[in-house]
This record gives sequence, structure tokens and C-alpha cells, in this order.
Amino acid sequence: MGSGSSGLGSPGDASALPIGEIACADCLAWMNGLPAGACDLIYIDPPFMTNVPRTTQAGGRYDDRWPGGLAEYLAFLEPRLAAMHRLLSARGTLYVHVDPRTSHYVKVVLDGIFGVDNFLNEVIWSYRTGGRSVKWFARKHDVLLVYAKAAGGHTFHVLRDGTFRTEGLNRDEEGRFYKNTKKGRLYFHPEGPAMTDVWEIPFLSTVAAERTGYPTQKPEALLERVIGASSDPGDVVADPFCGSGTTLAVAERLGRRWLGCDVSGEAVATARARVAAGREEMLF
Ligand SMILES: C[S@@+](CC[C@H](N)C(=O)[O-])C[C@H]1O[C@@H](n2cnc3c(N)ncnc32)[C@H](O)[C@@H]1O
Repeated sequence: MGSGSSGLGSPGDASALPIGEIACADCLAWMNGLPAGACDLIYIDPPFMTNVPRTTQAGGRYDDRWPGGLAEYLAFLEPRLAAMHRLLSARGTLYVHVDPRTSHYVKVVLDGIFGVDNFLNEVIWSYRTGGRSVKWFARKHDVLLVYAKAAGGHTFHVLRDGTFRTEGLNRDEEGRFYKNTKKGRLYFHPEGPAMTDVWEIPFLSTVAAERTGYPTQKPEALLERVIGASSDPGDVVADPFCGSGTTLAVAERLGRRWLGCDVSGEAVATARARVAAGREEMLF
């Protein structure tokens, strides 16, 4: 499948990327075969070290077991995160989606690879679905660690949501809210405040139209924010742990060039079918 060329060219040669293709491979080998500096945005949602075996809808296993514990998990991630650093363009950004049990360890690894100064955000993805413990506060968030290849030179678009508190504010002749400051009128953006690093997005329901049946599938709404904030149309978006292809499907819909990889044949088949179905929908 795919819309682009499939040859792999010299370092930095983004035109020779396997755009629109999903490889079935260990992503370390896959990334090592790609030219340096070729990706503008990389999002990963790797195994979380849950140590809980899960069965896919097709009867396959999604294996997230680490007999060697945290050390084995971090030893797996580190070379792959380093490969992502090599792949990012000068204005590129990496999002690493993990959970609160490992996020602080993963951040230390990322600080070592990217440098503390290139850390941009710890985004909290908050959701309310599922059961609730009575022994501790219900654990209802994931963590996205966000790093720039070179902070300051990275692509970033302010996203907006929510509303300002407008009681007591002034309104001008056109009804726009403002407050008076020493420098004059400070207007409130008509589309609401700039988005914070805490994102309230519902988890996928069991009957959501976008659900593919692949375990651990993430909501498209989450990837819309990641891709919308940190890339431009035509940019190259990569997901080396693509699972059911959520990143790739959203990237396609938003007009980005994309490439993906997963070690599971079932994931790759699911993602390929999903992207193809999305393309058909866009024809009408
Ligand atoms: C949490 S899932 C990703 C789910 C995805 N974000 C989605 O929305 O469907 C993690 C994926 O990483 C894949 N994976 C695990 N080890 C890998 C490796 N070494 N290389 C590539 N993919 C790997 C698994 O097969 C699994 O599909």
C-alpha cells in the first residue's frame, strides 16, 4: 500500500522515505534503515510494562511482559528512543506516551538522549472511564512526555479550548471582551484560552465507531491534538509502535505524510485496513 516511493535514500533525504507504508518489523531495525532527520513528528505509544497478557479480538496475544522488570523495559526503550532522536528533523518533536508507573524513569532516559533543555511538556491525558479503586484515588490518566529536537526551533501551533471567565470584563463596540492594562486593552482570544497540558478526552468506548478491536487502541481525538499542535500539512509523521494505526489514520486525514511500523502482523493488517478505509471515506 502507500502513496509514496519506497526506496530508502541517503541521510536527510526525506523524499526517499517509505511514505504511506506500514512495516512489520522491530522498530529499532526499521528506524535504523531510515535517513536521519527525515521525520517532523514522532508519536509512540509503546508497551507500558503492564505485565498483563492481553488477547486481541482476532485471538492473538498482545505481549507486554517483562520478566527482567523495569531494567529490561528501559533497556528495550533506550536504543529505540535514541533512534527516534536521530530520525527527527531540526524542527521535529517526539511524544512518548507512557503511564504514571514508568513515566518518571522514561523521562530520565529521555533527558539523557535529548537534553533537559529540550523537554517541552508532560501532557496529562485524563479520562474517567472504567472501574474505580476504593484503596487509592482512581488511576485515570496517562502521560505524554514531549521533547523537541531543538527547543525553540520546533513546530508548535497553539490549540484552544474552553472559555475565559468573562464576568466583570469590559466589552468593546463589537462586543469583544478585554481588560485594561498599562499597555492598553488586552483582548481575550475569540476561540478561547490556549490549551493547557492537561487534556480531558474520553477513553474509547466499547462501541465507538473508530474501534478496531485491537487492544490498547487510543482515541483519534488525542492524536488530532498531537498532530495539530506539532506538525504542518505535508510534514512527515511517524509512529514506530503504530498498533491499530490511530496516528497514521489521523495523519492521513489531516494531510500529513506518514509512515508506520509494528512488530505484530495483526497490528499491521489492522492499521493497513484502517488507513485504506479512511481513504475511501475521504473520496465521498
Ligand atoms: C500500546 S500498542 C499501540 C497502540 C496504538 N497507539 C493504537 O492506537 O492502536 C503498542 C504496540 O507496540 C508494538 N510493539 C511492541 N514491541 C515492538 C517493537 N519492538 N517494534 C515495533 N512495534 C512493537 C505492539 O505490537 C503494539 O501493537
